[in-house]
Amino acid sequence: MCCCCEDDYGERYCCRIPYQVWEDIKWCFILLGLIVVAVVVTGVVLIAVIFGGPLRHVKFTVEDASLTRFALVTSPTTAIAYNLTLSLAVHNPNWAIAIKHDKPLEASYSFDDQPFERVLVADEGSKQGARKTVVYRLSSGSAGRAVALGNAGEAEFRKENATGIFEVDVALTGKFKYTLRKTKCKIEATCPLKLQLDTPGTAAVVFEKVDCEVAKSDDKYC
Ligand SMILES: *[C@@H]1O[C@H](CO)[C@@H](O)[C@H](O)[C@H]1NC(C)=O
Ligand SMILES: *[C@@H]1O[C@H](CO)[C@@H](O)[C@H](O)[C@H]1NC(C)=O
Repeated sequence: MCCCCEDDYGERYCCRIPYQVWEDIKWCFILLGLIVVAVVVTGVVLIAVIFGGPLRHVKFTVEDASLTRFALVTSPTTAIAYNLTLSLAVHNPNWAIAIKHDKPLEASYSFDDQPFERVLVADEGSKQGARKTVVYRLSSGSAGRAVALGNAGEAEFRKENATGIFEVDVALTGKFKYTLRKTKCKIEATCPLKLQLDTPGTAAVVFEKVDCEVAKSDDKYC
């Protein structure tokens, strides 16, 4: 191995790199190569763990609810007149993975297993970042939403009406995708609520947070 050196008078001449220096340089390159390989391997493993590792499930909770009207209308058809306001929190606990709604997220309200209202929660295409919680405030009401209560349902209504506490189930449906994952995951969750009718003049009722029960998915990637 040869290289150019300068002597004390600025004259160039050819000199050999001393063996020891050459050996040191060689080891430097080997070490550098090892470091690069280690960094690349660590990076690949990290990316695989972050984006390909086990997912944490999206959670739903009803943080607050207030029912100001809940009445049975019997003519012309059986219907429910109601005013209900909910705060629904959607929590994405994943450290690096965002979600995107592939279908609208909807909440369906039912009384005695009979649905009487559907409310849009999040639009198709809306996104939610990693480690983010989004609280949706759903406010809806109607002077009469048709409901197939039947005889049994009307009896249940009168029973609950007498106590002033109504059992209303909120069922969440939708479909979403995780970042960098192909699978579309179905959302199926139910939040059973016990709502005390909030009538003017009575003390405001404190609502206790309800964790929604998420149905287990058949898809192991969801
Ligand atoms: C229910 O909501 C309607 C409008 O959406 C309002 O006019 C009515 O006063 C509300 N009733 C109660 C009891 O809150
Ligand atoms: C429900 O209860 C209220 C009083 O709390 C009463 O005025 C109303 O008639 C009851 N409705 C039915 C369908 O029983």
